Amino acid sequence: MPGMGNSLRAAALLAFVVLSILVSLLISSVQQFGATGSHFSKATLPGDEEKLASLRGALIYQLNERRKEIIPLLLPEDGDENGLSEEARHSSQAQDPILDYNLWNEITLGSRKAHLDEMGCDSLVGMQAVEILGSGYTKLVVKVNLAGGQPVALKLVNEQGIDMGKCLEDFKDPQGCRELVSSKLQKEIVLLQRLKHPNVIKLKGHCAGGQGGREGGGGGGEGGRVTVILEQGNPLQMIQLLQSPWEDRFRVCLDLVRLLHFLSQSPLGSVALLDFQPRQFVTVSGELKLTDLDDASAEETACQSDTDCTLEFPHRNFTLPCSARGVCEGLNEKRNIYNAYRYFFTYLLPHQAPPGLTHLVDHIMNSTGELKADINQTLEAFERILLLYQSGLHLDNLPPSVVKDYTVMRGMGTSGNVEYRCWPSYSQQGCVLSVHCAKEAAYICNSHSQCNSFTLTGQKTWTGRLLASFRSSFSHLVPDGTSEVYVKKTKALETPPV
Ligand SMILES: Nc1ncnc2c1ncn2[C@@H]1O[C@H](COP(=O)(O)OP(=O)(O)O)[C@@H](O)[C@H]1O
Ligand SMILES: [Mg+2]
Repeated sequence: MPGMGNSLRAAALLAFVVLSILVSLLISSVQQFGATGSHFSKATLPGDEEKLASLRGALIYQLNERRKEIIPLLLPEDGDENGLSEEARHSSQAQDPILDYNLWNEITLGSRKAHLDEMGCDSLVGMQAVEILGSGYTKLVVKVNLAGGQPVALKLVNEQGIDMGKCLEDFKDPQGCRELVSSKLQKEIVLLQRLKHPNVIKLKGHCAGGQGGREGGGGGGEGGRVTVILEQGNPLQMIQLLQSPWEDRFRVCLDLVRLLHFLSQSPLGSVALLDFQPRQFVTVSGELKLTDLDDASAEETACQSDTDCTLEFPHRNFTLPCSARGVCEGLNEKRNIYNAYRYFFTYLLPHQAPPGLTHLVDHIMNSTGELKADINQTLEAFERILLLYQSGLHLDNLPPSVVKDYTVMRGMGTSGNVEYRCWPSYSQQGCVLSVHCAKEAAYICNSHSQCNSFTLTGQKTWTGRLLASFRSSFSHLVPDGTSEVYVKKTKALETPPV
């Protein structure tokens, strides 16, 4: 079949390209496998064979455990409200691992109808690897341009990761371990399909290399190799974000809250992110997206009393109510909120918040830090801040007269500027800040001792606010249909202080 040939070629090519950019990593990996291989070749004594068989049994047990985690997450069939076909339901209860493999292959080979619109191995033919975007305990992420030029991110098993290393130490079986670690990629694929949201990274497709479950018994061959094709993002850099304007930092927090709101009532139930860290997120055009989902869990915690419902964090513990039906009420939701508070809000939200909004920001910090608000209330509070910020209502206290101190020239820009720097500026060269209107810009210019003029450029930020460029002076006015120049009346003709 030509399709199959293409798939195999693509898988081979993918392996080649990724391998070639990872030469240094692979040298040690080869050494590692070499060592493992020699372990096997020595293992011909009767006692060693027994030991190997028991290790293999333990690995197969682990694989089956992973499978059991994924089966309940599978996409619903048409008319199947529980998300499982009769076969799947049967299979998930089966003790015989071979029966499980039918279902396993369905996921790993992407043969289910719902996946047909996604990219597969064929789309990877002729791609070019650009660089490594990131890596974690489990996965390696590579920046790639597909043959048609489309940029994507590919997620693969991280051969050098902690997961792989630990598995090799425990089971001494490179192929089996690759398959075990790949099960996290498979879980992620299923979760990405079920948890579609603007703040979750977009799954473009996947490529399951090799002949899949033909191996049958588990742990062998190429069956485990999985490559996930994702929309490309930029790893979240907290240090960089800390130096960004409040508006951009607020955006990250708002996106996060929108995501958590969705997760609290997702198609899988209320989902907790168990490994909640900034490094599990990327940004795409400034928008926050969750990319690491393999530790997402929709499990509820069973309880008999409130004391069974304790959320423990390094510096805080919370006890939540045990509901009448014997589950901890809102535990997943609250866990996410507190993590959002401790990893994101505390660093990003209060610092340099606009003066008219600080009381609302303080309220959010208090209600999330003390877990007093649920995710609906938290989202409402964030959306209210956005609305006020966009409408400029928080500026009502500014005297309207400030703008009267300036002469305006519409349809003009400036050249020969004498710039000064301010912080946090949208431009490295000069002082560029976002403003709601000329009045706010005039107010800012008045508060900067070097400022004598500013331009409202035609550019807008993500909230729709205008970018204003502040400066000490300029030599010429130049026609520019999209902008307006404001010059301080009192100082316009004065020589600047030396
Ligand atoms: N779509 C993507 N675009 C850009 N970088 C990404 C993307 N997905 C993940 N990354 C980067 O790769 C790293 C590892 O991916 P992740 O899924 O978190 O692996 P792990 O499960 O091993 O932690 C992330 O921390 C992130 O910086
Ligand atoms: Mg991660």
